[in-house]
Amino acid sequence: MDSALGQAGERRIGWAARAMPVLTAIGARFAAERPLEGLRIAACLHVTAETAVLMGTLRAGGAEIALAASNPLSTQDDVAAALGEYGVTVHARAGVDRETYYRHIHQALDIAPEIVLDDGCDLVNILHTERTELLDGVRGGCEETTTGVIRLRQMTAEQALRFPVVAVNDTRTKRMFDNRYGTGQSTVDGIMRATNTLLAGKTVVVAGFGYCGRGVAERARGLGARVVVTEIDPVKALDASLQGYDVRSMAAAAPEGDVFVTVTGNRDVIRGEHLAVMKDGAILANAGHFDIEIDVRALDGLAQAVHHGVRPNTDEYVLADGRRLLLLAEGRLVNLTAAEGHPAAVMDMSFSAQALVVAWLARDPVRPPGVYDVPEELDVEVARLKLAAAGIEVDELTGEQERYLRSWRAGS
Ligand SMILES: NC(=O)c1ccc[n+]([C@@H]2O[C@H](COP(=O)([O-])OP(=O)(O)OC[C@H]3O[C@@H](n4cnc5c(N)ncnc54)[C@H](O)[C@@H]3O)[C@@H](O)[C@H]2O)c1
Repeated sequence: MDSALGQAGERRIGWAARAMPVLTAIGARFAAERPLEGLRIAACLHVTAETAVLMGTLRAGGAEIALAASNPLSTQDDVAAALGEYGVTVHARAGVDRETYYRHIHQALDIAPEIVLDDGCDLVNILHTERTELLDGVRGGCEETTTGVIRLRQMTAEQALRFPVVAVNDTRTKRMFDNRYGTGQSTVDGIMRATNTLLAGKTVVVAGFGYCGRGVAERARGLGARVVVTEIDPVKALDASLQGYDVRSMAAAAPEGDVFVTVTGNRDVIRGEHLAVMKDGAILANAGHFDIEIDVRALDGLAQAVHHGVRPNTDEYVLADGRRLLLLAEGRLVNLTAAEGHPAAVMDMSFSAQALVVAWLARDPVRPPGVYDVPEELDVEVARLKLAAAGIEVDELTGEQERYLRSWRAGS
């Protein structure tokens, strides 16, 4: 590795790889079998050490890869430098503006991909709107996150999607671990790194009690916070209530909260009327995919002054009456901007599924356009490998148990 930046990135990637035994094992298998020989892949993923381990796995399988970031702020520049030296073409830099962010995606698409990997559907969107000349060459793709899958299903409903995309997000091994434990821990980590606030005794308002929101609520409660949940789904709200959380409307929670975390995948969850009644010093963070969950424009409109960078990734908005609201990471993914994203041990599972799905797409006949589930056996294989790496054994069904579970005749 030539540059000091590249060396730092290499160390970071090596550290992540230690916690990714499943992906490493798949990489060793790919190196022997070369199932992706010559396959051109365009990826739009957060450029982090864990993504680098995935890129290494796909390269070991023989793929040629161009990588762009899936968020303008989340790129780890040292990792990008190391990846470049490993032979992956990287178009990403931390802190780029909107125009550069989209230019980087275009540059990744210049590889003329056969397979695409996306996280939030921006790359697939550009392919279908601005780079339609490349569509015929694409065999299929993978989508990593909830927001991307929602957009893809909408494209399918409007018959706009032109190739099959596998919803890696929807596997049990992704949602149950990455969205919940990964987002939970790293979101709290991002808030603490940005503000060094003590969460014990504080009121943390979590907007959205889905997979991610549940994880954030659990981790905040674990640190001694009083957690208030807001929801629009009555079943999820009831679940939160029975788990012991206070459930409120955002209007009721706004004056109570010390820390707010949006994680809904929806827009305008915290609006001007909520900001107007918040406490002095309230912290605003978003862990949902896009920066539209907190209405930053309304915050700008209410502010008499904005002090950028009062802490790393923290901007202070001073309102007319002197109250100060603290916006983290400009309202973008706080866990990837102010912290390092998900711990490698959980990315091991979702990225292992990505790697296995890429091999599956490369091997199997082309399918009609649409959103596909990851084959159940791949999901189970990831969990089995993860357990094996941890030295954990599980029971197997006896023949009699299997017959019993398949039979409708047997009663008590
Ligand atoms: N930060 C990360 O690293 C990370 C990781 C995975 C997913 N995500 C993103 O987080 C978001 C949530 O993902 P998820 O898997 O938890 O989705 P989910 O569908 O399981 O949960 C979203 C929840 O938000 C609720 N909701 C929608 N609008 C709301 C509103 N106005 N007020 C309150 N609640 C509302 C929904 O009812 C649902 O229960 C998505 O944008 C996803 O892409 C982020």
